[in-house]
Amino acid sequence: MCGIIGYVGSENAVPIIVDGLKKLEYRGYDSAGIAVYGRGGFDVVKQEGRLEALEARLAGSPLSGNMGIGHTRWATHGEPSDINSHPHVGSKNKIAVVHNGIIENYKQIKERLEQRGVRFASQTDSEAIAQLAEYYYDGDIMDTVIRVAGRLEGSYALGIMCLDEPDTLIAVKKDNPLIVGVSEHGRFIASDVPAVLKHTNKVYYLNDMEIAVLREGDARFFNFDKEPLEKTPETVTWSLDGAEKGGYPHFMLKEIMEQPKILRDTISSSMTGSNGDIIDGMDAARFGKVVITACGSAYNAGVVAKYVFERLCRISVEVELASEFRYKDAVIDEKTLVILVSQSGETADTIAAMREAKSKGAFTLSIVNVVGSTIAKEADRCLFTAAGPEIAVATTKAFSAQLVILYILAVRFAARLGKVPPGREREMLSEIESLPAKITEILRQVDSIQKYASTCVGYKNIFFIGRNIDYAIALEGSLKLKEISYIHSEAYAGGELKHGTISLIEDETLVVAIANCERLYGKIMSNVEQVISRGAKVLLIGSCLGAEPDGKLYRIILPESGDLFSPSLSVVALQLFSYYVAANKGLDIDKPRNLAKSVTVE
Ligand code: F6R
Repeated sequence: MCGIIGYVGSENAVPIIVDGLKKLEYRGYDSAGIAVYGRGGFDVVKQEGRLEALEARLAGSPLSGNMGIGHTRWATHGEPSDINSHPHVGSKNKIAVVHNGIIENYKQIKERLEQRGVRFASQTDSEAIAQLAEYYYDGDIMDTVIRVAGRLEGSYALGIMCLDEPDTLIAVKKDNPLIVGVSEHGRFIASDVPAVLKHTNKVYYLNDMEIAVLREGDARFFNFDKEPLEKTPETVTWSLDGAEKGGYPHFMLKEIMEQPKILRDTISSSMTGSNGDIIDGMDAARFGKVVITACGSAYNAGVVAKYVFERLCRISVEVELASEFRYKDAVIDEKTLVILVSQSGETADTIAAMREAKSKGAFTLSIVNVVGSTIAKEADRCLFTAAGPEIAVATTKAFSAQLVILYILAVRFAARLGKVPPGREREMLSEIESLPAKITEILRQVDSIQKYASTCVGYKNIFFIGRNIDYAIALEGSLKLKEISYIHSEAYAGGELKHGTISLIEDETLVVAIANCERLYGKIMSNVEQVISRGAKVLLIGSCLGAEPDGKLYRIILPESGDLFSPSLSVVALQLFSYYVAANKGLDIDKPRNLAKSVTVE
């Protein structure tokens, strides 16, 4: 849940690292720090708070050096504070480390080292890595790294500098992402590509238990037996624009606005392009059931997909939170298709769910945004969303891209199973292709949605309701709102209201009702009547709105579409609504409190 970066080369490492940390801040933002190899050894500045606070410290006492490491933190062990920030330097001042991940056995390591007289400065698990490395260090830093890695339990991506090696940056990883960038002026390590994109689009994806040894003009890779590895760099096709705000006040708004293009790209790569035939390599008839497992919004995409798959393929679909699936001894076997959905491809629970599914013989298919990520690499098959870098912590464009891949998959699957005739398959694929243009129409309503959202900042509770697939997307609407606006919200299936939730409805409650299912329109509207008569105000979002009661009701009308793919339209209205509620509250939308984008810990 943290971001790390390192540089060794001919330029001053400090601005390169600070700039890279800005691109990684989405991974954690409660404190940050930097260490450079200066004239007299390590110069370290660590600062609680946002990156600007670190920049202010650096402006007051500038550092420079041709090699350095930096870190932006999302606290797990030890509160956010200067001392708990990274880099951590051992007490002999010999080894400096930045770490992303969690060391599960740090207490044992710490106790053993303390018994031998080592004094720890922080409360973090990560300091144990630096102290242990110094304890083992006998003049060969590679040997030290291999010994340390052998002792660590948990996950890590590490950037390491050693006092005796003024021109060598070391990196190693297990279960957390790390890339190595190569430019004309130096070598980089980073948790994610945008951090180095300004300097290079040539990157190596480090695998678990590989060590990178980097010097100004040199990048070498080794396994834990110190044997050299041949690795080929990949060329990243994203442009830096994807990692810049491009004139928008927040990444989230920019990413919402990008959705027509992202969907067009994802649809074309999944119909004819780089994702190949989307059901290639899968014997659709072999599967007795489908399980979709993921976390957060990606889970919500799975809930939408359940409705689509079941309706089209007549196959039973279970949707499981990855954090539950991994521990429940799931009833799956070789006849189960397990679909993993993840923007980052690094979510710890989703990785564990994938490994659990593989161990039981299921076929694993992942839908991932980040090329080179663990889930992309380990799943039996991976389909990539063409969302580009998503920087705002709250997902928007990656979620929408996940949805369209899931739709196309369901349609192709149904056709392969003979559940829909070829004519209907083509019709549905062209309905999917028409979504980007319909989203553009919704985006044109931005001013009126903004105006309406500005009247909603005072609500303490907002409920989202829908039926069938509208309920599935209500889950995402509710999550989006609560994570960025800090307003309490819940999503309910409309039919459930009367079984308890209706007791929460009172004056000054807002209910967001989603109505795209024509055959259930009457049902959801009676829920709307029920909440209005108990004092609620209603925001009604849908494509099949009729003669609704006036007064306590505001409408966002969506373009005509069948209900099956309508979540892609509803969600855009829901994203804009949430965004503008949060913006009107003056909140830090791209970095909501307590959240991080990539949840690489349990
Ligand atoms: C919400 C959000 C999170 C992620 C979840 C899974 O806006 O972004 O709920 O969807 O943490 O992350 P990935 O998709 O990277 O596995």
